Amino acid sequence: MNGDFRVKPDLTVDIGGIKLKNPVMLASGTAGYGEDISKYCDLNRIGAIIVKGIALNSSNGNPPPRICETPSGMLNAIGLPNVGVGAFINERVPFLRKFDTRVIVNIFGSTVDEYGDVAAAFNGVEGVHGLEANISCPNIKEGGVAFGTDLDATRRVVRRIRKSTNLPLIVKLSPNVTDIAAFAKVCEEEGADAVSLINTLIGMVIDTETWRPKLANITGGLSGPAIRPVAVRMVWQAYKAVTIPIIGMGGITNYQDAVEEMSEPYGREHRRAPREARALDNRLAERERRHTNRRNLDAERVARGVACSDACCRRRIDKH
Ligand SMILES: Cc1cc2nc3c(=O)[nH]c(=O)nc-3n(C[C@H](O)[C@H](O)[C@H](O)COP(=O)(O)O)c2cc1C
Repeated sequence: MNGDFRVKPDLTVDIGGIKLKNPVMLASGTAGYGEDISKYCDLNRIGAIIVKGIALNSSNGNPPPRICETPSGMLNAIGLPNVGVGAFINERVPFLRKFDTRVIVNIFGSTVDEYGDVAAAFNGVEGVHGLEANISCPNIKEGGVAFGTDLDATRRVVRRIRKSTNLPLIVKLSPNVTDIAAFAKVCEEEGADAVSLINTLIGMVIDTETWRPKLANITGGLSGPAIRPVAVRMVWQAYKAVTIPIIGMGGITNYQDAVEEMSEPYGREHRRAPREARALDNRLAERERRHTNRRNLDAERVARGVACSDACCRRRIDKH
């Protein structure tokens, strides 16, 4: 029925075996382990929370300053502070279990074996529905180049994680590569259930008074609206290369951005406007209602083909 707001569209998605009530997720590192953000955003309303990266051992991250604003974005070199896998499972997962949402744990390591060991620690942990492997970390044993920027290292790390876990596995791709499609393909070949992209782009900002970099780490990762067109382009390239679901992220600030990158973790912008994250599922639902009446428009089909995941958009494209 035209414009009938009583009909609730089906926003459920299945991302590599993780069933979400809607495609809205909180991107890793933007919502910690859920405690603080839960005061501003009802976690029961979102499809999933992807928690801050977890490693085998705890760490405090980089020294300050580790965040710096840039035009339309933010540079961060937080350095992956985390409580370590044991403390996370014992002290943080019980809080997350209280919510009717999916919990995806972002994991990282400094060697291939460490990734495998962190992944294995989550087997059988109640309340953890999937893993997202952040492969943008330096490969300490092999010269410090990020795993996710070297095809062979990506292959080996994904293979090792796949062997270690029965949980749905999402591999989070680094955008700091020339051919993102090749990396997505390797992840699919090695058994990843989905890929997510993009992580931050490496950047640098200079303080013009001191002529020194603004971040203690010198370089940092750029996030926010500035990176959205890059993210949309990479999602599209990955989409053409693989058949597994794709989670799009990078600079999403409103539902139109989200539609561009469906499906979408809702990234750093929730800090600016936590209400937006809460309302995003409603807005996507409203858009669905509008567009059920316009399904035969070619433009609509193209738009959906640009930024979509198997779980979310591919299914809809098939309906057209
Ligand atoms: C402060 C901060 C911390 C982050 N921590 C992580 C992390 O622990 N693991 C990870 O895979 N990505 C991490 N990210 C990357 C985000 O999940 C996301 O991929 C990126 O910021 C792009 O999305 P956005 O532009 O919506 O923020 C972090 C980003 C920010 C801004």
